[in-house]
Amino acid sequence: MRVALWPDGSEAEHRADVERFLAGEAAEPQTVLLAEDRDQRVVGFAELSIRAYAEGCRSPRVAYLEGWFVIPEARRQGFGRALVAAAEEWGRSQGCTEFASDAHPDNDVSHAAHLTAGFTEVGMVRCFRKDLYQR
Ligand SMILES: CC(C)(COP(=O)(O)OP(=O)(O)OC[C@H]1O[C@@H](n2cnc3c(N)ncnc32)[C@H](O)[C@@H]1OP(=O)(O)O)[C@@H](O)C(=O)NCCC(=O)NCCS
Repeated sequence: MRVALWPDGSEAEHRADVERFLAGEAAEPQTVLLAEDRDQRVVGFAELSIRAYAEGCRSPRVAYLEGWFVIPEARRQGFGRALVAAAEEWGRSQGCTEFASDAHPDNDVSHAAHLTAGFTEVGMVRCFRKDLYQR
């Protein structure tokens, strides 16, 4: 599911990330929620962190939806919304008062799902990078 959500990473890289997380060695995400169907098949996940800053937020510890995914055949059945509800509960348990997320500007489904889950759109950013050292 991680490969499907973040195809820029190889399966081996995602596997290594998951193993680091399970070994308790990953700085992020802080927690991962899994959604199961009635047959206890894992059909989705939410990766969560706490960020010191998030666009449009005022508090210094913001619960953050780093990854949100439901397998195609399980979509539109409420799993995405249930993951967000559980994520909010986790955020509150961590003492956070705000919950934030982001989506690619072209991802209309994610946009709609965020709005339905109660998020308000607060802005659009363009991201840049440059190398600081010659290779
Ligand atoms: C975004 C995602 C996690 C939503 O999961 P989901 O289980 O389908 O969500 P839900 O069934 O709880 O739907 C919640 C609401 O989102 C909106 N929504 C979801 N899919 C939609 C679609 N294809 N078109 C329009 N609205 C949609 C609807 O308002 C829906 O409520 P409704 O079904 O009562 O109308 C899922 O579509 C997904 O994994 N997408 C690919 C990965 C992705 O883009 N993740 C977000 C990255 S920022």
